[in-house]
Amino acid sequence: MKRIAVMTSGGDSPGMNAAIRAVVRYGIKSGLEVYGIKRGYAGLLDEDIEQMTFASVGGIMEKGGTILRTSRCPEFVRKETRAEAAKILKKHGIEGLVVIGGEGSLHGAMFLEEEQKIPVVGIPGTIDNDIAMTDMSIGVDTCLNTVVDAIQKLKDTASSHERAFIVEVMGRSSGYIATVSGLVTGAEAVIIPEVPVNYEELANKLLEERERGKINCIVVVAEGAASAYTVARHLEHRIGYETRITILGHIQRGGSPTAFDRLLASRMGVAAVDALLRGESGVMTALQGGKIVTVKLDEVLKEKKRLDMELVKLAGILS
Ligand code: F6P
Repeated sequence: MKRIAVMTSGGDSPGMNAAIRAVVRYGIKSGLEVYGIKRGYAGLLDEDIEQMTFASVGGIMEKGGTILRTSRCPEFVRKETRAEAAKILKKHGIEGLVVIGGEGSLHGAMFLEEEQKIPVVGIPGTIDNDIAMTDMSIGVDTCLNTVVDAIQKLKDTASSHERAFIVEVMGRSSGYIATVSGLVTGAEAVIIPEVPVNYEELANKLLEERERGKINCIVVVAEGAASAYTVARHLEHRIGYETRITILGHIQRGGSPTAFDRLLASRMGVAAVDALLRGESGVMTALQGGKIVTVKLDEVLKEKKRLDMELVKLAGILS
């Protein structure tokens, strides 16, 4: 193997740049030429490809977003489009591909390998932490820190005004971000897709806490469970005190990555190049019990990552 390429695809996540840097630098040190594909699969189809150097990834570790840029590419669900992409990779002499992204992007990578026989290694990069077989994906930790910071600030103003805040966080169909951010900020309640909510019971709990003298109230809702507006509609008339809504939105995807994400991304970037050099393909780098391993992409993608119910229990016990 002489020439490999790296791309970021789907929703960006903090730490992607550290992963790109690791792939490029370790690839070059291993005697490879490393190319960067811009704007994910869409850029690949446009042949937006350029050679990366040691210098081209200098000073990017601390930057949020992705220097390669990214996109969602709905056309990539078509087999003919993937065949076209494989043709372009071959035309550019690219013999191995590292795809950094979430579930949709990893599906694209798996099909490129299965149908088109392109050697591919995936790196899980998403704030949602919804990729199976890895304890963490790149960007989750930074996102959590952003959410925690925001909730702490909301708590200040909630206390001053004796209000309830309904805070909507991302996560697609996973309640991970909501559960962990709620747990570590001591939120009064967390509403997630994995557990049905009973608004009557929840309102009674909030009322009891108010009677006991609690002057603020934070309810964290995962976007996959309900919108903050729906939650507010169910709660406000029942609890009878002022409610405000905050939808954190894309702020959760930005920002300088934490040390944890930089380290995870660096380790996974190196592991991805090593996997390609070993002749592994159709795999994803994963964090399992503190170690970086590779796991088969088809196995990763056939199951939905299950939320650790111990965390949900803990959030409930400690709220
Ligand atoms: O998968 C990451 C994520 O931020 C989800 O949490 C969210 O539902 C989605 O992407 C938003 O996507 P977009 O940036 O395309 O609006």
